[in-house]
Amino acid sequence: MTDDAPLDPSERDALVAAAWAMLPRARCGYSKFAVGAALRDEQGRVWTGANVENASYTLGLCAERVAIFHALTHGAGRFTHVVVATDTAQPTSPCGACRQILWEFARDAMVVMVARDGAQTQRSVAELLPGAFDDGALSG
Ligand code: THU
Repeated sequence: MTDDAPLDPSERDALVAAAWAMLPRARCGYSKFAVGAALRDEQGRVWTGANVENASYTLGLCAERVAIFHALTHGAGRFTHVVVATDTAQPTSPCGACRQILWEFARDAMVVMVARDGAQTQRSVAELLPGAFDDGALSG
């Protein structure tokens, strides 16, 4: 179930700022497409990441997964919000691989996508990945 409790506006702004602050940390020399991600867990802690690329292109990792894997391995609680920030005219949606990871580890989160002018779109993870494959299928 999505955490419907609206995030306090100042906390939401801080989460967006945390995602935005990650853009210069992106290692995106190949695509030049920097992505910043910030996750909020149920304790209100903020976990961030940026995309990291490699000369062997397929080894790169999206900002969302960098942030999630870092958070998971450093004691994050259940995620309530995921912010994805890009220096683009339109908000950027998480890629398919990230949607699958979000379904696995941040199923209840609201995903907030932010463009350069601050315009925001938000979708639940379930909206982003209908018909997800998950552990239920493995045990079926
Ligand atoms: N990228 C992300 O970090 N998140 C997304 O949801 C979409 C794509 C990154 C991957 C790659 O480093 C660059 O953006 C261009 O695809």
